[in-house]
Amino acid sequence: MPDTPVQVEPLAPLPLTYPVYCAPGALGALGHIVQQHAPAHRYVVISDEVVAPLHAARVMAALQQIAPAERSTLFTLPAGEEHKTRAEWARLSDALLAWGAGRDTSILALGGGVVGDLAGFVAATFMRGVPVVQLPTTLLAMVDAAVGGKTAVDTPAGKNLVGAFHDPAAVVMDTALLNTLPPAVLRTGLAEMLKHGVLADAAYFAQVEETGRRLALLDDRARAAALTPLVADSVRIKAAVVADDAREGGKRQVLNFGHTIAHAIEKLLDYRLPHGDAVALGMIVEAQLAELSGVAREPLARRIREALTAVGLPTTLPAGVDRDAVLRETLGDKKARAGAARYALPLALGEMDPAEGRWSRPVADALVRQALDAI
Ligand code: GLY
Repeated sequence: MPDTPVQVEPLAPLPLTYPVYCAPGALGALGHIVQQHAPAHRYVVISDEVVAPLHAARVMAALQQIAPAERSTLFTLPAGEEHKTRAEWARLSDALLAWGAGRDTSILALGGGVVGDLAGFVAATFMRGVPVVQLPTTLLAMVDAAVGGKTAVDTPAGKNLVGAFHDPAAVVMDTALLNTLPPAVLRTGLAEMLKHGVLADAAYFAQVEETGRRLALLDDRARAAALTPLVADSVRIKAAVVADDAREGGKRQVLNFGHTIAHAIEKLLDYRLPHGDAVALGMIVEAQLAELSGVAREPLARRIREALTAVGLPTTLPAGVDRDAVLRETLGDKKARAGAARYALPLALGEMDPAEGRWSRPVADALVRQALDAI
């Protein structure tokens, strides 16, 4: 059953070359948006086995408003970070070829960050690059992965180590989809939203904390209403950073706040810890590092821990994870240069350390080890 077509305006003004639509019910405008920003002869929807049964029928129906049914297809992959692999990239690329997709194909990535990154990488490489429309279905993917053009797969050596920058043709965030998410999945998005507050806007940080605190008490409609403006603000914060430095030569590294430690913890736990939970722990440690190294102008780790606790995110390292092993893993991080991990550190809530224009700095292992005691 197709959605009743609706009209949704893109967020404005955004310093990006592609539109971002963010509203409850935005998928109702999908046919029109795809026709406008990613028109093609054939359309391939890539999703996972959890999301597809919930939302793919609406997406396929929207495509049938703009092209005959036989020119659209759906490919799925099993859900989970462990499937964001070169093997899945190859399988999906081969499936596109076998179906007859050519250069005149647009891909729609329907799902969370794993699907967005993997389908984005298929789009970046298929026939040397075809358009991708990002349709994030989780709070985390809406505020982070869907915007900014990073696409990648993981390798045994770490997360996102093989990938490409490939901007989407459009991003459509239907915030009503957030109603289907359990609190544990929603809160992983809140971690990235709090991160945006730390790096750019202290008032936004407090708003996310306050909304996150009462999220579980809201009914579905009220939840979407409360989250939509916050998602839009997170997109604005991220867009401003990405517009300045799309290829992460400098300022974009601020988006990695909390992530050097988070990636190390995730890898040690074989990606069983949700990304947002790992980012929560990473933010505490890296804020502590900013204090210990004399970069921070004010106590930050305690304030960040308070907000994470308020929204239900973890603040202590899961049992069995060895702090020295975390430290060792940071040296294999792709942000490491010449064997030293680099950290984007906050000066204060809402302001990052420019580090003389490099936006990240190496920190002595001994300080990192000491900071790890904060979780
Ligand atoms: N997730 C960090 C970035 O997009 O740069």
